Amino acid sequence: MANCKPIVVLSAAMSIDGKIGHRNKKTILSSKSDKIRVHKLRSKSDAILVGKNTIEEDDPLLTVRYAKGKNPIRIILDSRGTIKNTSQIIKTSKNIPTIIATSDLISKRNLYRLNNLPLDVIICGKKQVDIKKLLSILFKKGIKKILLEGGGTLNYSFLKNNLIDEVIVTITPFVLGSENSINLFEGIVKGTKQFSSFKLKKVQKIKNEIILNYKI
Ligand SMILES: NC(=O)c1ccc[n+]([C@@H]2O[C@H](COP(=O)([O-])OP(=O)(O)OC[C@H]3O[C@@H](n4cnc5c(N)ncnc54)[C@H](OP(=O)(O)O)[C@@H]3O)[C@@H](O)[C@H]2O)c1
Repeated sequence: MANCKPIVVLSAAMSIDGKIGHRNKKTILSSKSDKIRVHKLRSKSDAILVGKNTIEEDDPLLTVRYAKGKNPIRIILDSRGTIKNTSQIIKTSKNIPTIIATSDLISKRNLYRLNNLPLDVIICGKKQVDIKKLLSILFKKGIKKILLEGGGTLNYSFLKNNLIDEVIVTITPFVLGSENSINLFEGIVKGTKQFSSFKLKKVQKIKNEIILNYKI
């Protein structure tokens, strides 16, 4: 698998208590200097990949704006293809390459709608996007490095399937608490051995934040 899938680098800004956001509320955790670092990272990636809820809740552009460099391809995992035409992603898809990865659950109506937009649609998976299959399709398209920018549900799917090669987490000086907050990995880890193979490779302190870099 290592030779036929893109390298996946998970990137997230996390509160002191391990949260990356709130349900139904946009939460900004990153400082300007961290945004500059992340945007440099984006410019060196072939694609950025996010889950549907992140699009619905944050309505991000997922471009390189705080650094110089090319915009990576934006890939949204959306099993029913319900992303809104009014989202920033769709509104800018004419100028920034965009892929909507969806599943057999997509309605004819949504498939027709998306197929008529200036973006690519990949259907893979029965009830959800099959991420292993998707990575293999993306690799064949020449995508060799992906920045996985969450949210927590998608991060956990990648973790569970052993598809993450590197984790870069910025610890930001906030506490989000437990009510309606999202963990870095949203899932139940059974046993402790399975996901304990990350090695801490680098620690950086920049002003009020710490950046942790783990590799497999
Ligand atoms: N701080 C940070 O760095 C950061 C970064 C990103 C996001 N966030 C935050 O994270 C939150 C959203 O996270 P979330 O956990 O609710 O959702 P998410 O991970 O953004 O999206 C999850 C959704 O993606 C779709 N999906 C399709 N195929 C999937 C697959 N194979 N595995 C997993 N998901 C798949 C599913 O919806 P369908 O079944 O309908 O397709 C699923 O419910 C927001 O609050 C956002 O602000 C924070």
